[in-house]
Amino acid sequence: MSVALVTGPTAGIGRSFAHQLAEQGYDLVLVARDKERLEAEAAELRTAYGVAVEVLPADLVDRAELATVAARLSDPARPVDLLVNNAGFGLKKRFLDNTVDEEQAMLDVLVTAVMRLSHAALGAMSERGSGGIINVSSVAAFLPRGSYSAAKAYVNSFSEWASREYAPRGVTVTCLCPGFTKTEFHERMQVGRGSAPDFMWLDADELVRTALKDHARGKVFSIPSPQYKVISTAARLIAGGVLQRFQGLGRK
Ligand SMILES: NC(=O)c1ccc[n+]([C@@H]2O[C@H](COP(=O)([O-])OP(=O)(O)OC[C@H]3O[C@@H](n4cnc5c(N)ncnc54)[C@H](OP(=O)(O)O)[C@@H]3O)[C@@H](O)[C@H]2O)c1
Repeated sequence: MSVALVTGPTAGIGRSFAHQLAEQGYDLVLVARDKERLEAEAAELRTAYGVAVEVLPADLVDRAELATVAARLSDPARPVDLLVNNAGFGLKKRFLDNTVDEEQAMLDVLVTAVMRLSHAALGAMSERGSGGIINVSSVAAFLPRGSYSAAKAYVNSFSEWASREYAPRGVTVTCLCPGFTKTEFHERMQVGRGSAPDFMWLDADELVRTALKDHARGKVFSIPSPQYKVISTAARLIAGGVLQRFQGLGRK
């Protein structure tokens, strides 16, 4: 039986990963802050799919709690075959309108946790000669839009490099770049669905189905849906300064 560790599995994209991986027969290790919600999710997954589910409550901002998750990934007695670095959040306000601690917490979850958990998983996986990592980034990584985009750009660059570095050691690394997806992400930021036109909103289950297929095929980047494939390709062709000026046009 293969084991997958998913961060942020209690809502949105992470929850879709947990359900689809359980459906494929993976046993699961679930990591998020809200213990009650984790337990409820675990019970639902055990009943629906008959898989073993371990709950590991942790705030990824907290270095000691993050270390317990890293230790779980590098435990040779309990190998983890697939790591899904998915947990994340955004900040509604602009960089200087947030406290530096709020910015730091976002960086801790989006970058530091991804780096430290990847370090732990890649060590164990390359030792065994097999394994996989899916890093949930964003199409925002291709656009210069504040510190969230900058953090996701790290995830893209790191994943692209790691996928080539560790493929010869049997580890597949895929970077998933979703566009606007119907989850709790915008609600938590107190941003309404009106922030993007209807056709731009993706369904988390469909997004994850595509991501898992792309990962199984060994793809480095998974950019589900045609509209976001066009946006990310265009963004890679147009210089960052031009994009930034274009994005600034509507601002007061
Ligand atoms: N939704 C979008 O439009 C969109 C677009 C592009 C990329 N993404 C990316 O997709 C990923 C998943 O987002 P989502 O849209 O599914 O968000 P979501 O519905 O808000 O779910 C976020 C998950 O992350 C967990 N989490 C948040 N902060 C955490 C922390 N400090 N420590 C541990 N777990 C934490 C939450 O659980 P707890 O609150 O219990 O900790 C929850 O399970 C994120 O990396 C996000 O940046 C989202």
